[in-house]
Parts: sequence; structure tokens; C-alpha cells
Amino acid sequence: MSELAIIGGTGLTDLAGLEITHRQILHTPYGETSSPIIQGRYAGKSIVFLARHGARHTIPPHKVNYRANIWCLKELGVQTVIAIAAVGGIHPSLQPQDLVIPHQLIDYTGSREHTFFAEERNPVTHIDFTQPYCESLRERLLAAAQQVSFKIHSQGVYGATQGPRLETAAEIERMARDGCDIVGMTGMPEAALARELNLCYATCAVVSNPAAGRSPKPITMTEIEANLNEGIEHVRQLLVKVIQL
Ligand code: HPA
Repeated sequence: MSELAIIGGTGLTDLAGLEITHRQILHTPYGETSSPIIQGRYAGKSIVFLARHGARHTIPPHKVNYRANIWCLKELGVQTVIAIAAVGGIHPSLQPQDLVIPHQLIDYTGSREHTFFAEERNPVTHIDFTQPYCESLRERLLAAAQQVSFKIHSQGVYGATQGPRLETAAEIERMARDGCDIVGMTGMPEAALARELNLCYATCAVVSNPAAGRSPKPITMTEIEANLNEGIEHVRQLLVKVIQL
């Protein structure tokens, strides 16, 4: 069984170049995963792939069964998870299609099933989440980033919003004051659930648009999709290098 899983986000519901060897629908104590679990070979290594928003991209961020997805990967023996996520760019240095490997996050989500430890337990469990991303995996991603021809932002604070609506300009202003560099809707509770199950988890974010109020134009799905189509090509190139490291 492969130790590495990739969770594909918006723009990455399938992984071109993945030779699929096995496809399984798995039931978990938390319900069904977003999509069948795909096992296959990518860049010469065996990996697991899961489409976060469903195989046909139908599940909105607040409806993703994050617990089933993460539980299932753990159950299959996965140890390392690379999460791909579309984000809006808040920091002025970020351009659409840029890649960012965030080092911190702030959670603005609410009313999501966000923990495996919701019930009474003895002892009550509080995970350490000081560093929300697995540093060794971030370092591996950054080492891979040295081998590609495009620039990757080596850190950033990811603000996770509830969605599915995009933010107001004032909300983005507040997030910028809080220290957020990028904004997305799927980073939490995914990262915390991975930590609860001791998975080594890191995110590769693709900037699909300037965040609300960061450009004079309204944000459109056409713009988001066009930038993701381009940006995802860079994600694929990075993944090939990461997998080979
Ligand atoms: N806000 C929140 N989530 C997003 C955005 C955004 O601007 N772009 C892509 N995902």
C-alpha cells in the first residue's frame, strides 16, 4: 500500500498521468468519502488519490465529508498527505496561477464536523496544532520546488473560510490585518483531522484569483477556472518531483 496520498481540489478532480490500478468505494464510521479512492502509479511510484469535491466536482466545501476522507486514508495505511487547494490571493506579491506552500493557518469556518474527538473520551484529547502543517513534508515540497522552472512561495498564512460564497472586501481586509496571505474554503478542518490521526499533512495552494477587493473586477468562476487550468499544470510538475524525492 502506498504511503503517499494526494487530495485533489478544485481543478484537480483527476490526475493526468496517473495509471489507475485500483478504485474502491469505502464506507467509514463517518459515512462515504467524497469520491472513490484511487490507487495507482504516478511518476513511477504508487500513490493514492482522492478528489475532495467528488469525481465530478459536485460537493461544495462545507459539504465535504472531511472526516470520512481522512479516516479512510489512515485506514488504508497512508502516512503522508499532500492537499491541493485553490485559493484567493490576499498578499500583494501573489499573482493568479502562483503556487504557495503555506506554513500557518487561521480557521474562520464554522458548523463543520471538525474532529474525531467529539465524544467523551478518557482522557480528553487536545492535539498540538502550533505548527498546523507537517514541516518535513513542507521541506520536501520546497526541495521539489528547487527543481522546477517556476517560482513557488515557500510560506504563507492560509485563512480558511466557510463558503460557499466568496468573501466581502471588508472580510478580506480583516483577514489581511490578521496576517492571512491566502484564502480558501477547504483547508479546515482537513488539516486538523489529519493531525488528529497523526498523518503528515501539507498543502500546495494554487492562486485562482485575487481575493475580494484585491482587484477592481468582480471574481468570476470563468476567471477561477481559467487560472486553475494553467496553475494545475505547475502543480502536476511539482508533484512529479516531490514523489521522486
Ligand atoms: N476565497 C475563498 N476561497 C477561494 C477563493 C477565494 O477568493 N478562490 C478560490 N478559493
